[in-house]
Amino acid sequence: MVKVNYDDLASEVITSDAKYPVWVGWSIIDKIGERVKTVCDTKVAYIVADEGVNSQARKVQISMESAGIPTYIFFVPSGEKHKNLDTVKHIYSWLADHKAERGHMIIAVGGGVIGDLAGFVAATYLRGMPFSQVPTTLLSMMDASIGGKVAVDMEQGKNLVGSFYQPKFVLSDVETLNTLPARELTSGWAEAIKHGLILDESLLNVFEEKHSAITSLDPEIATEIIRKSVAIKAGVVSKDEKETLGIRILLNYGHTVGHAIESTTGYSKFLHGEAVSIGMMAAALLSNSMGMMSDEEVRRQECVLKQYDLPTTSNAIESEKIIEAIKSDKKTIGGSVNWVLLSKIGKAVTNNEVPEAFLLEALSNLRR
Ligand SMILES: NC(=O)c1ccc[n+]([C@@H]2O[C@H](COP(=O)([O-])OP(=O)(O)OC[C@H]3O[C@@H](n4cnc5c(N)ncnc54)[C@H](O)[C@@H]3O)[C@@H](O)[C@H]2O)c1
Repeated sequence: MVKVNYDDLASEVITSDAKYPVWVGWSIIDKIGERVKTVCDTKVAYIVADEGVNSQARKVQISMESAGIPTYIFFVPSGEKHKNLDTVKHIYSWLADHKAERGHMIIAVGGGVIGDLAGFVAATYLRGMPFSQVPTTLLSMMDASIGGKVAVDMEQGKNLVGSFYQPKFVLSDVETLNTLPARELTSGWAEAIKHGLILDESLLNVFEEKHSAITSLDPEIATEIIRKSVAIKAGVVSKDEKETLGIRILLNYGHTVGHAIESTTGYSKFLHGEAVSIGMMAAALLSNSMGMMSDEEVRRQECVLKQYDLPTTSNAIESEKIIEAIKSDKKTIGGSVNWVLLSKIGKAVTNNEVPEAFLLEALSNLRR
């Protein structure tokens, strides 16, 4: 394998037992075959793809085969309801029928659902096969494809069965976002903006100043901002892979209330980024009540979220149910919520001493 430095390298994730590139570029999906060869010596590849991204999956297959690597595709119907052990079993059988070997690569082509599902299969089939990610939603480029969290859902809860399993590389072709439904794209900006809010005010400035070029997916400007935002997530994961050092948790800004909103509305009313957007407003109001963010900073956050058409309030907020959901969240330990707040824009901190009265007040302000 020859190591090549590509211009579109957004970051390199470095963990205790893995080191991998995250490439973010425009129109790079058909370069995957040559790039695979720089990171892994696979003889055969198996694409697990969302059936909604058929043409992208075919491009990956053609590129792999042009590089001399026979490649098969398993299409999964779109939607979270297929991220379960039944689908995993179908994929295991397909791999067994093709006599997949431990050195062969699994490639996920699709959004976070496919990345989590294919990653889970890769982590477990033959006790682990090399795995790579070709995310095709903004949310999965920004978030789900980086960091090695793979999982499937159970009836009792989302992402209940999973592992940490790092890919060999992540290749994000921003051009693929051109076919993504507008609401999915909008929702994805929430995670990108979050990276600016928690760790990099200068990134937030760019989101504010270049809003129309970014949302219209200008090849240069949108690619650059996605690359920068991805680098923040990759940097955090490299410092705290398994969320044990209090760094990776900062990525959960907006997620405590966001997850509760998603679960109390049956995962049907809001897309993830929309719920996180309202959750970030709750966290900003709590930061303000705790004497951290100023009124002006809270307004600034609200303005940028609105600029990207993200919701900042909702009439679906039911305070009692949300508090109940927060208490039963898997991240709440011994009844204590470790909140991610902002001491100022660009600086996130954790705090487990937020009074419930502040939360009730914030939720009532957001119920509109
Ligand atoms: N592993 C992690 O760290 C992590 C982080 C965040 C979220 N997640 C998981 O990610 C999942 C959500 O991911 P998502 O928001 O990407 O949803 P998704 O994978 O369901 O994709 C959303 C929709 O977009 C369609 N689609 C995908 N790419 C497209 C394209 N380029 N053009 C047209 N349509 C396209 C899909 O068919 C689907 O209907 C959840 O299961 C969540 O648990 C994982």
